[in-house]
This record gives sequence, C-alpha cells and structure tokens, in this order.
Amino acid sequence: MPEVKLGLQDVVIANSEICSIDGERGILTYRGYDIKDLAEHSNFEEVVYLLWYGRLPRRTELQELTEQLAENRPISPDIIELLKRLPPPQHPMETLRTAVSALSLYDPEAEDMSLDANRRKAMRLTGQMGTIVAAFGRIRDGKEPVAPDPSLNFASNFLYMLSGEVPRPEIAHWFDVALILHADHSFNASTFAARVTASTMSDMHSAITSAIGTLKGPLHGGANEQVMKMLLEIHDPERVSDHLRGLLKRKTKVMGFGHRVYHTEDPRAFVLRKMSEELGRQTGQTKWFEMSLQIEQLMIEEKKINANVDFYSASAYYVMGIPIDLFPLVFAVSRISGWTAHVLEQYAANKLIRPLAEYIGPTNQKYVPIEQR
Ligand SMILES: CC(C)(COP(=O)(O)OP(=O)(O)OC[C@H]1O[C@@H](n2cnc3c(N)ncnc32)[C@H](O)[C@@H]1OP(=O)(O)O)[C@@H](O)C(=O)NCCC(=O)NCCS
Repeated sequence: MPEVKLGLQDVVIANSEICSIDGERGILTYRGYDIKDLAEHSNFEEVVYLLWYGRLPRRTELQELTEQLAENRPISPDIIELLKRLPPPQHPMETLRTAVSALSLYDPEAEDMSLDANRRKAMRLTGQMGTIVAAFGRIRDGKEPVAPDPSLNFASNFLYMLSGEVPRPEIAHWFDVALILHADHSFNASTFAARVTASTMSDMHSAITSAIGTLKGPLHGGANEQVMKMLLEIHDPERVSDHLRGLLKRKTKVMGFGHRVYHTEDPRAFVLRKMSEELGRQTGQTKWFEMSLQIEQLMIEEKKINANVDFYSASAYYVMGIPIDLFPLVFAVSRISGWTAHVLEQYAANKLIRPLAEYIGPTNQKYVPIEQR
C-alpha cells in the first residue's frame, strides 16, 4: 500500500524559484534574499518586482513598476456599486472573494493566457486588491469610498483609502514592512490552491479567487483576527495566564501559534514582535503587546510552540486602527503579489496538479433498486 501523506505534509510537489523556507533554522527568503534584510532595507513595491521578475529592480524599473501599480489602483464604478449592493457578509472575506471574482468580468484580458496579458493582470489585481478592501471597509460603515492617491506609495495609500487620512510616516513605514513580510510564503495553502487552479490552465482571476477562499480559513489567514479577538476577550494582562492555561487544558488551539514548516521561530514573527512593540509605544497602547509577550512566553514554556506570522500582526494592525475583521483581507492585499508570482510560474512550466487518494471505502457493492433498500 502506498504511504499516505495526510495534509501533503513534507511532500515536495514542484520546483520553484520564488521563495525558500528553512523550517529548522527559521530562515525565509524571497528569490534568495533574507526576509529580515528585505524588511529592513526594501519596500513593498520593490519586493513585488523581485517576486515577479526574479531580481531586484534598477531605479528606473522600480519607478516604472511603482507608477504602474498606482495607475492600476482604481476599480470600475460597477465594482463599487456591487460592494454597495451586496448583502452584508457574515465575514468580509466573502465580499472580497466575490468582488475579486467579479473583477474578471471587467478585465478585457480575462481570458488572454499570453505571458504579457497575465503579467498585466497580475499588476491590475495587485493594484486593485487594496482598493476593494478599503472601499468595502468604508461602505459597510456608511461612508463613501476614498479614491486612491497616486502620489502615495502602496502602503500609505491603502491606509489613506481605508481611514480617509494620510497615515503618519512611522505607521506607514511599519505597514509597508508588514506588507513585505506577508508577500509570499512558498506553497502555503492559499498559494497551493491558486497553483492547483492555474494548473488546469484556468485564468488568473479564477486562481486568485481560489486562493482567497483558502486564505479565509482560521487555520490560515483568518488566524490573526482570532488572535485579536482572544486578546480583547482576555482584556486584562492579569488574566493572561489563567485564560491560556484554560485553553490548553481544553486542548483548544491557540491562534497565532504553530506552523507546518517552522520548527523554530518564524522569522516574520521576529520582525512583527518589534513592530507590535514600537507601534504600541507610538500609539500609547502598549497593553496588547505586553499581553502578547506573556502569551508567547507561556506557549513556549508550556507547549514549546512558537508564535507565527499571525500572532504579532494582530496587535500591530489593531493599534494602526485597522478593523479586526479586515485583518485577513489585509493579508490578501499583500499576498496577491506572491499568488500572482506563483500563478505565472505555474503557467510557465505547467503540469496539471492531480494527486491520488488511497481508497478505503467498501468494495464489491451490488446495486440495489431503490424500492428494495
Ligand atoms: C498552523 C497549524 C494549522 C499547523 O498544523 P499542523 O502542521 O497540521 O500541526 P497540528 O495541528 O497537527 O499540530 C501538531 C501538534 O501541535 C499542537 N499544536 C499545533 N498548533 C497549536 C496551537 N496553535 N495551539 C496549541 N497546540 C497546537 C497540536 O495540538 C498537535 O498536538 P498533538 O500532536 O498533541 O495532537 C496549527 O499549528 C494551527 O492550527 N495553529 C493555529 C492557527 C494558526 O495560527 N494558523 C496560522 C498559520 S501561519
């Protein structure tokens, strides 16, 4: 009998030149560049270029990509209308999934599978994702969407479209770092979903819609929202220990901890911890970081399980003023760059992704007519 690898754990299914993870040493690279180095020195637009084209851009190339991304931020008024008309979702990821799927109906190249057309679609989707999220965030609060400002960089513009105010440079800087950290993560569940869809030679919008549906789950992109709900529920730093021990006693998974690939600290959590601390200090809301630190220490002591990318991003986004239920959508605003890079890579050397299952159901059944059952 062939060995069954539940959850495809440890199964290597393709070669990829985009992203590497060393789960033993806690090292994540995009195209060979260490994520900590990129977080310190790069910016989101440059990382998008790196993911798509495989190398760091020259100055003019970066300028061109930055301008193109900014030019592609506006969305059709019909999509805004759709966002206004759709019923309130049970979770905002439903609306994002629907709106991104609808974008293809307004994209004249939706069915064009040439490399150039797919690159342009990657550009449009990356430019538009933040506009949809920000517009939704405002519409559901009864406010008019704010048009993108092409003079602002990707990070500042998103926060501006969401709140209506240009963010302070320190906040915009840290949000830019968060975007860099979330841009790609190899064959994670949502990227894999995008690649499975792309491997049927289905179009880019379909692949990204699959990815959004997959990111939505609390075991993936939905975890950061759950982390913040937990922090709000605990509320008082004095209650952290009792609350956490209660969760562990009931064998409830603590959101923001554990990882399929990392057996040591997630390098993104290392940077996000610093971000959460600094933003907490700058906004005068240090409590959430302090509680997070306590939880992390207890999880390491009690379970030897490290924080993942979703743990400290929760308190960081919260003090930036991002609504909690939009956290997973903000993940998508960044991860669209990695998803599209992977879809392009899949198209470039496609092989239909189609695994097997070991059948363990009944055999040799004889059909029984309905009146005899
Ligand atoms: C990310 C995750 C899905 C990885 O799952 P996985 O590789 O299938 O590993 P498992 O869920 O089987 O966990 C292995 C063991 O660690 C424990 N564990 C893993 N994550 C845990 C967590 N967050 N809290 C408590 N225990 C956890 C499991 O209970 C299991 O213990 P057991 O072997 O005694 O049953 C899992 O760690 C998780 O659910 N984390 C919380 C959600 C989250 O933060 N997701 C974002 C990921 S970036």
